[in-house]
Amino acid sequence: MRRLEGKVALISGGASGIGFATARRFAEEGAGVVLGDIDRAAGARAASELGAEFEPLDVTSDEDWRNATDAVFARHGTLDILVNSAGIAPTGTIEEVTLEDWRRTMAVNLDGTFLGCRHGVRVMKQGRGGSIVNLSSVSGIIGGHNLAAYNASKGGVRLLTKSVALHCARKGYGIRCNSVHPGFVDTPMLQELIRTSRNPDETRSKLAASVPAGRNARAEEVAAMIAYLAADESAFVTGAEFVIDGGVTAM
Ligand SMILES: NC(=O)c1ccc[n+]([C@@H]2O[C@H](COP(=O)([O-])OP(=O)(O)OC[C@H]3O[C@@H](n4cnc5c(N)ncnc54)[C@H](O)[C@@H]3O)[C@@H](O)[C@H]2O)c1
Repeated sequence: MRRLEGKVALISGGASGIGFATARRFAEEGAGVVLGDIDRAAGARAASELGAEFEPLDVTSDEDWRNATDAVFARHGTLDILVNSAGIAPTGTIEEVTLEDWRRTMAVNLDGTFLGCRHGVRVMKQGRGGSIVNLSSVSGIIGGHNLAAYNASKGGVRLLTKSVALHCARKGYGIRCNSVHPGFVDTPMLQELIRTSRNPDETRSKLAASVPAGRNARAEEVAAMIAYLAADESAFVTGAEFVIDGGVTAM
């Protein structure tokens, strides 16, 4: 099926992991895809692999967001889908996390999504409305003892999403906004979390054992959920949270 034919999508963090898998799925569904990422080399490589476009984008920068969203609108005359996937996941308990790490996590995960939503709404309302999908996490719903900053940032994304959705519905902009809450997904982010843990082998097996479904998600499985939220078939879905975690939060 080509459910996104004629639509144009901007994906932050599109060079890697869930953002990249989403870009691939969107392209298969017929969308014009623009990847935004702070990593220019990886972003340009990913874009050429998919036949997509690339916009340099540091999500913590208001100016970068303005430039990227305006560039997409100028080139295509529309911005129909925005996926806020750029994120970082430093670990640390409340006693360990430094103020610097805290601020950086908030800047990328929460300010980045805030700015994305602001510029997404600004541009989408000049066109024909659209769909914004924010990557929160199960860590935006349940706590982890060593995820103080990440938990706080993803909890923020969860409720920011609802505020954006309600504002847009009230204004009649035709813009929807939903959050996606994955559990463990096999991406470079998760590999890095495992690699930098005290005992990587133990962490790897503990993670998998903690998932009722017995494994981590593939990025493509998260991309399928995002494609649904981007497409018109989810036209009545807004302000909602979509968990994809192999049963972790069901326990
Ligand atoms: N992998 C998981 O287990 C998991 C679980 C739940 C939620 N998530 C969330 O999903 C999203 C994607 O995660 P992933 O696993 O694909 O990560 P990833 O590390 O594979 O990819 C993240 C991408 O974001 C980019 N990025 C980082 N900082 C940026 C910035 N300031 N500006 C622009 N781009 C920036 C990176 O260059 C990278 O390309 C994140 O928001 C993450 O918190 C991931």
